[in-house]
Amino acid sequence: MSPQTETKAGVGFQAGVKDYRLTYYTPEYKDIELIAGEENQYIAYVAYPLDLFEEGSVTNMLTSIVGNFFGFKALRALRLEDLRIPPAYSKTFLGPPHGIQVERDKLNKYGRPLLGCTIKPKLGLSAKNYGRAVYECLRGGLDFTKDDENVNSEPFMRWRDRFCFVAEAFYKAQNETGEIKGHYLNATAGTTEEILRRADYASELGAPIIMHDYLTGGFTANTSLAIYSRNKGLLLHIHRAMHAVIDRQRNHGMHFRVLAKALRMSSGDHIHVGTVVGKLEGERKVTLGFFDLLRDDYIEKDRKRGIYFTQDWVSMRGVIPVASGGIHVWHMPALTEIFGDDSVLQFGGGTLGHPWGNAPGAIANRVALEACVQARNEGRDLAREGNEIIREAAQWSPELAAACEIWKAIKFEFDTIDVL
Ligand code: 3PG
Ligand code: 3PG
Ligand code: MG
Repeated sequence: MSPQTETKAGVGFQAGVKDYRLTYYTPEYKDIELIAGEENQYIAYVAYPLDLFEEGSVTNMLTSIVGNFFGFKALRALRLEDLRIPPAYSKTFLGPPHGIQVERDKLNKYGRPLLGCTIKPKLGLSAKNYGRAVYECLRGGLDFTKDDENVNSEPFMRWRDRFCFVAEAFYKAQNETGEIKGHYLNATAGTTEEILRRADYASELGAPIIMHDYLTGGFTANTSLAIYSRNKGLLLHIHRAMHAVIDRQRNHGMHFRVLAKALRMSSGDHIHVGTVVGKLEGERKVTLGFFDLLRDDYIEKDRKRGIYFTQDWVSMRGVIPVASGGIHVWHMPALTEIFGDDSVLQFGGGTLGHPWGNAPGAIANRVALEACVQARNEGRDLAREGNEIIREAAQWSPELAAACEIWKAIKFEFDTIDVL
């Protein structure tokens, strides 16, 4: 869309200025469609001129398109379902600091999802005990451990102490296992300056990855941290606290696919996306739709999966979706099938709740994951034979057998709120 221009004569200009030119930039309503099954709800398509937006600023883009009209008296409710980012605009963004292939190469891990764990109890451990919990998980076979979102720098465990003990833990586990290990050191803090200071310390310690909460921390801080991460070779894990306040209701707010696209532009190598089968909200087809928007380069419009527009990212790097929230070994076949290899599967309680401790919990998850990947590679159907595949592996792994017993009755069978 191009801007409209009016001349002096066109608007009857009276101010005595000899010559002038006014340029108008107005959104254009392209189309309107009634939502099936609803009497008075509509989908409106709106196009904006490109000149309305500052290059490389998700903050500016959102300020414009999800601004005050969401609060207009005349509107009962309004939800941003999707947006199409044209190539000319997409090219002004950094995108993920490293992207999927570079992350795999840095970690030297291929052909399977990555395995993580959020350390629990999230609040209250001393830095030294926290480091011990991390070490046990990593030596047991996980690739990553993670600071839970609200672990920042509390009186019982200041960030610098945590960073030091955690670094000791991942180096030790790395030496013992011969595998590259990481922990998402949460750099989220009250100011961007402090976030960067924490990231800088993580980099000095040689940490492979850091973490940020992009919605509570804000897009500006997120992009600044992403640029720093790219320059320092740090991978950037993104958590999404507050997202459900914005995206969960069907008729108001923004869909998570919009928040996911905004993150890809603002930058991050990983992002939490729910689990489909775990404790968090998320319909399967819709979730698969935004996986593609995060990972692929060119995504065709597909309304059955909630994709309203064909999106061409024109080579912007991809983001790895992270499954986290109430998952355990019995979910492993479904997670392997739904998320595919370019994902992180993260079991918090599902690792640390193991009756024999963190390392056996980690072993159980690693054995279960490898069994699922092998079964899939042999052509077995994970959806149909999942339970059997886990039971077979539990016959030779006592750690997995104990995990199967403890989590056998934990299910999350609730109706999805946000359906298409
Ligand atoms: C985690 O720490 O793993 C999470 O809090 C999962 O929740 P989210 O998907 O809402 O970020
Ligand atoms: C959360 O905050 O929900 C988590 O950190 C995920 O942990 P869980 O695997 O114990 O649910
Ligand atoms: Mg959490």
